[in-house]
Amino acid sequence: MTGLITMADLTNEDIVEVLDAAERLLPVARGNAQMPLLSGRILGNLFFEPSTRTRMSFETAMKRLGGGVVNLGDVSTSSVVKGETLFDTIQMVDGYTDIIAMRHPRQGAARYAQDAARVPILNGGDGAGHHPTQTMLDLFTIRQAHGRLDGLDVVLAGDLRYGRTVHSLSHALARFDCRLVLASPELLRMPPEIVEDLRASGASVVETTDLYGSLDGADVVYMTRIQKERFADEDEYVKVAGAYKLHAKHLGEVRQDMIIMHPLPRVDEIHPSVDETRHARYFEQAFNGVVTRMALLCRLLGVDVPGGEA
Ligand code: NCD
Repeated sequence: MTGLITMADLTNEDIVEVLDAAERLLPVARGNAQMPLLSGRILGNLFFEPSTRTRMSFETAMKRLGGGVVNLGDVSTSSVVKGETLFDTIQMVDGYTDIIAMRHPRQGAARYAQDAARVPILNGGDGAGHHPTQTMLDLFTIRQAHGRLDGLDVVLAGDLRYGRTVHSLSHALARFDCRLVLASPELLRMPPEIVEDLRASGASVVETTDLYGSLDGADVVYMTRIQKERFADEDEYVKVAGAYKLHAKHLGEVRQDMIIMHPLPRVDEIHPSVDETRHARYFEQAFNGVVTRMALLCRLLGVDVPGGEA
């Protein structure tokens, strides 16, 4: 494997191995054990779009494993404003680093970067395309709560059109035989080609606009932010802004062990009353970004995480 551009770059066995390695790294991520597995290695963080969790958790992951990090920093103070092409930037950073984590507003940019680089690229989000490292931490969180990935009932809700997290996650869940309910306003439906792919892989997929009526019986409810920055027309955004507002009062009939997830940042789609319930998992989910990215960095750099089967 070179990089991680979409979830198609990992088999189901790969996914389980990475999650197992991530579990073994929990004490290191918490700072209770030291394991300098990546000492002497350098991660290049190239974020051409805003990021808090993805960028910081990659940096934390690398440093917890004894590695170093170089950052592109603010795009407005880099050579990008002088007109440097992505191809040139990548070719140069390729020579400075051992692995690159990248986020870019253009769909397909990570794949393009991988073609320009010798070092592995980890796609930290390419426009409305994919976000596979987020999916790995989502899967880690789901497995932690339910003890398995297979055969779960999962509701993906919100901006399914532009939300790259749900594009990658739906693909992975379908491969683990989960039943998917896709809840979104009409305007923000999952792109038809993705729905076709999910169905072609044998997954049961139901599309609905009724989020609240889909909650009972779900094992996981995955909320997403409406991706304002991807709308070409502000009026279209205004039509769907605030479409779903999940409140603790909606959770009366749900399964006791149902978990509510969100890649964050949230706007108003999850009311703070939900934070106090047993279902809220989004802050643990964000922490899980550190361990899963540690495990991914090790895997892509060809470093075994001790404790696994030989
Ligand atoms: C997501 C993203 O950037 O796609 N954030 C993240 O990585 N945790 C979701 C979002 O921005 O809404």
